[in-house]
Amino acid sequence: MSFLWKSSIGRKLIMSITGIALVLFLLFHMAMNMVAVFSHAGYDWVTEFLGANWYALVATVGLAALVVLHFVYAFWLSWQNFRARGMQRYAQRKSPGVSWASQNMLVIGIIVLGGLVTHLFNFWSKMQLVEIMGQHENSLGLSPTDGYSLIERLFANPFYCVVYLVWFAAIWFHLTHGVWSAIQTLGWNNEIWKKRLRVISYVVATVIMLGYTTVVVYFYLKSLGLF
Ligand code: HEM
Repeated sequence: MSFLWKSSIGRKLIMSITGIALVLFLLFHMAMNMVAVFSHAGYDWVTEFLGANWYALVATVGLAALVVLHFVYAFWLSWQNFRARGMQRYAQRKSPGVSWASQNMLVIGIIVLGGLVTHLFNFWSKMQLVEIMGQHENSLGLSPTDGYSLIERLFANPFYCVVYLVWFAAIWFHLTHGVWSAIQTLGWNNEIWKKRLRVISYVVATVIMLGYTTVVVYFYLKSLGLF
């Protein structure tokens, strides 16, 4: 087991496994939020179901552990690469055929994390956290299970719409390289599949981005009275 933190491949393995688990969360969370576009009552049911129940709390703790591991190991690996390459890293930056996303994973990852902190403040702190604290109302005077009203209010504000769309773009870049890199680390890297895996990463990243974007755009247009 100690190879998971002692060797470079072990550390990459942790990045890949936590990364893939986070992608699965992103897909689940996207599907859950798409429900809001189709049915108000359906979304209320989902947020009620995922409130402060024991299974939702276990999932939240697991999710937090995944994010922390993914982030700590990202810094660790980047630091290791930085030390190993020394001045050569500048030459590396210009190498052809290496995608922009792959060269900027840490910076894009930090933007993704910044967006996540803002997002948790906007939603989680006004929902699950309020329930955990045993309160029946959040700072906006809403029930902690009323995710629908939170979405409606947030995306009626064009500033937040832009902040979220920039965040989704950062996630898209991060995933186009991340998904590909994770599957390669897990050993699926023969020549035939290399190109296919690239396509798969772009498809996964684009589906995720379009799903979340639909929610933001729908609620912004709804606030203008178009739905
Ligand atoms: C339109 C976009 C999104 C909407 C409407 C949305 C909505 C929500 C809501 C309502 C919650 C609170 C759930 C609760 O506390 O019961 C939540 C929590 C959360 N969201 Fe999002 N979300 C969106 C995008 C994202 C994205 C892109 C990510 C990740 C990069 C993300 C990560 C999280 C996390 C980690 C939590 C905490 C989950 C937990 O308590 O277990 N969300 N979101």
